[in-house]
Amino acid sequence: MKRLAVLLSGRGSNFIAIHDAMLRGEIPGAEIALVLSNKADAPGLATARERGLISVAIPSKGMKRDEHDQAVIAELQRAEVDLVILAGYMRLLTPAFIAAFPQRILNIHPSLLPAFPGLDAQHQAFDYGAQIAGCTVHFVDEQMDHGVIVLQRAIAVNPDDTAESLSARILHEEHIAYAEAIRRVLSGNYTICNRRFIPKKN
Ligand code: GRF
Repeated sequence: MKRLAVLLSGRGSNFIAIHDAMLRGEIPGAEIALVLSNKADAPGLATARERGLISVAIPSKGMKRDEHDQAVIAELQRAEVDLVILAGYMRLLTPAFIAAFPQRILNIHPSLLPAFPGLDAQHQAFDYGAQIAGCTVHFVDEQMDHGVIVLQRAIAVNPDDTAESLSARILHEEHIAYAEAIRRVLSGNYTICNRRFIPKKN
């Protein structure tokens, strides 16, 4: 079994979608070893507890970034985690964190990267007048919203969309994309060539 850690700071809808996909048998050979948050009151952490998963809070407030990351790394190593899933984890990772899990940290971002990195990507895309929006699952590297792309899903922006309706439809795509991306990465059946994630033919 591959052991996943899900890191989150908020509501945790991506975590829930991933866990639901696992319960449906759609991510074979994987289990959630722990759910970890830098916010003790994150709703996603409460959901993890309700679902009987190991949930850990390591509050980041008042802690130096390096110290906090070291505490998180120690927790992940103790849990013998194979893959780290960032799901609305509102922290930039230190290089030490990334080095501890090389090509083993995934993030989801609610835009078609490299367009609209950073906060409020859905609003950025809407305000810019983008006609195609979507989400990206990517490996995490030392630059924000930058690592190798595993999977993207695109949707059209409708003329009657609001930023809110667009965000909701992007979120729906996120929930499909993350489970699929995890499945692809855990299969090990890919190569990365010049930033390109290339599934291997069987
Ligand atoms: C999602 O929009 C994700 O793309 C971004 O943070 C949000 C987290 O939402 N990185 P949730 O906590 O998974 O519901």
